Amino acid sequence: MSVKVVVGTQWGDEGKGKIIDILASRADVVIRSSGGNNAGHTVENAGEVYKLHLIPSGILYPETLCLIGSGTVIDPKVILEEIDGLTARGITCENLRIDPRAHVIMPWHIALDGMSEKMRGSSEIGTTKRGIGPCYMDKAERCGIRIYDLVHPALLEEKAKEVGALKNLIITKVYEENAIDVESVIQEYKEYGKRLKKYVADVSVLAYEAYKAGKEVLFEGAQGTLLDLDMGTYPFVTSSHPISGGICIGSGVGPNIVDEIIGVAKAYTTRVGKGPFPTELMDEMGDLIRNRGFEFGTTTGRPRRTGWFDAVILRHAVRVNGLTALAVNKVDTLSDIGDLKVCVAYRKPDGTELKDFPPALEELAECEPVYETVKGFNGDISKCRSFDELPEDCKAYIEKLEELCGCPIKMVGVGPSRDQNLER
Ligand code: GDP
Ligand code: IMO
Ligand code: MG
Repeated sequence: MSVKVVVGTQWGDEGKGKIIDILASRADVVIRSSGGNNAGHTVENAGEVYKLHLIPSGILYPETLCLIGSGTVIDPKVILEEIDGLTARGITCENLRIDPRAHVIMPWHIALDGMSEKMRGSSEIGTTKRGIGPCYMDKAERCGIRIYDLVHPALLEEKAKEVGALKNLIITKVYEENAIDVESVIQEYKEYGKRLKKYVADVSVLAYEAYKAGKEVLFEGAQGTLLDLDMGTYPFVTSSHPISGGICIGSGVGPNIVDEIIGVAKAYTTRVGKGPFPTELMDEMGDLIRNRGFEFGTTTGRPRRTGWFDAVILRHAVRVNGLTALAVNKVDTLSDIGDLKVCVAYRKPDGTELKDFPPALEELAECEPVYETVKGFNGDISKCRSFDELPEDCKAYIEKLEELCGCPIKMVGVGPSRDQNLER
């Protein structure tokens, strides 16, 4: 039995949900350690499509224990809607547990997310406006409300009164907007607390016990490497740590328990939100990939920006996550579109070439991609069920990516369903 971590290698939406769902069929425990309902993970099975935001993608297996760790931020209304939605479709959430240390997204976090974005004007981050950043700000500021408080009404009341008054000062005096009715928030959240109480348990202890008992444990990454607060394209990032190291802090486990770290990538690149994107295609090819790949956000519905595969980004992801394998999804999207380009390095304005992803945004913004052209492939590959069945040119594309990234590609996605994943 082993402990596996699945992380996004690009700017999110790489198809992590699908890979987690596949690996969860062999797992006893699935753990989410960071982010909140900014994530949107799609799982397709037998024609049914599930869009999960907070609940781990292992939930479709009734025996699997699904844990939400301390590093997450939870909108109680959203998680309850998700539980109700799944229950209505016959999926049990009885095996869901939430760490009492996880922070609660309050209505003022959502309001302030929108207000600070508006204040930034044209330099907005393009957040999901789900209150993620402001909630993590309060966590770091040490004035956050945690799940433990949510399920203890007296604590919730005391803390929400204090922090709510301060937030209202910011909302009314800094942003000159209407104050939030803190009293009605407290009443509303007390009801959420009542319903969520039965799910609360120490995730660090449960994860450790599962590991000690030799169970198969899977950590479900959210977001992606370039959205990491430290290793991403700061400030156009999220406020948590989606890289593999984030699972230790966000679940309360030590790094020594991990056996495999699987990075999920798309066969091209996408991003939602603002910020530099070296291989972005602003032409018809970009539109073609967006439409063929149905690249519209799972959470916000925004059209995703599209571009060629960027091996500089992938090498960065291999390094900062310590990847042991890659899963490359949406290879099917690239068939019948002609020759493909792959970014192998960046060229700086002075003509020098960069092989490593630059730490500063200003440097990245002036980089031009250096491309290699790879022969395209044709035909409907979505029905292939083994790597050997793929057209030779398609295999050559995958092998080229593998060579450039310096990490074995062990899974190839040719469609959104469980059975459209070719293991190598
Ligand atoms: P996540 O956030 O990383 O879980 O990814 P999303 O669910 O936001 O976006 C990935 C989208 O691609 C979803 O609609 C998936 O159903 C879909 N998808 C995943 N793998 C494949 C694949 O190999 N081929 C195709 N065509 N779609 C895929
Ligand atoms: P999954 O798990 C894609 C992006 C937002 C924005 C930036 C900051 O589905 O891959 P935030 O609301 O987190 O403060 O927004 O991060 N972002 C994502 N983009 N997939 C995600 O999650 C994302 N989660 C956050 O679009 O650019
Ligand atoms: Mg997504």
